[in-house]
Amino acid sequence: MSTLEAPDRTRARIGKRTLRKDDWRVYPLTTLVIFTAWVVYATIRAFWGAAFYVPEFHYLTPFYSPCLNEICDSVTVNHHTGSAAEFGTFLPAGTRGWIPFAAISLPFLLLFRLTCYYYRKAYYRSYWASPPACAVAEPHKKYTGETRFPLLGQNLHRYFWLAAVAISLVNTWDAVRAFHGSDGGFGIGLGTLILVANVVLLWAYTLSCHSCRHIVGGRLKHFSKHPVRYRLWEWVSKLNARHGQFALITLGSLVAADLYVALVASGTISDLRLFN
Ligand code: FES
Repeated sequence: MSTLEAPDRTRARIGKRTLRKDDWRVYPLTTLVIFTAWVVYATIRAFWGAAFYVPEFHYLTPFYSPCLNEICDSVTVNHHTGSAAEFGTFLPAGTRGWIPFAAISLPFLLLFRLTCYYYRKAYYRSYWASPPACAVAEPHKKYTGETRFPLLGQNLHRYFWLAAVAISLVNTWDAVRAFHGSDGGFGIGLGTLILVANVVLLWAYTLSCHSCRHIVGGRLKHFSKHPVRYRLWEWVSKLNARHGQFALITLGSLVAADLYVALVASGTISDLRLFN
């Protein structure tokens, strides 16, 4: 019998669930609250269908990028009309409210995060208690790891990484467009800085990915024969040490960017202009 299927034979025979004395529940419970709140917010915003673009300053929320609904082509806010449809409009206006405007990118971003090594650890602990923490027995009787469907699909993470790189390029373009002044020329506002900070953090998260580290430095027998890849691998390895932090910080930066654009686009606040 495989050791995977016989946890009772491989685990320490102790009478208690765990011998840990620290408050090991804090991490899974905190993660559960943060992730659930984020998913609720992101779902509501993705289907909201409004307050996603500020034509005057070219601010597009990352939750709607690339903006593919017909509505994206002509958005009016505060007497300014502009287009957020940089990559075409494949979705008819009638799908507003039940298909997110960023219908192409959001599924890949969701799958990218869902299969991320950091997030796996977090939600296996918080939602499935499998296991809830190190050295704490899980309630499940059987453990098959990621050897069967659907968890076998976690192995597709490297392909979702490629999609995430493409989407990060789109987000980068959105941030570049946000250097737009009210007279149509160059300008910088608080929204520009928030969108740029968000995209820098998104790149840090994407490039610190374990799959990225393997892509740049894996399958080599001699680093000395591949100095460029070795140098890249060193850079990615440094970022990789902070991958979990980037995973969490980008949840916050995405919400901050979206919320700011939503508040300005809805007329709730005015953009703080730093230049033009
Ligand atoms: Fe987290 Fe790849 S391991 S994004």
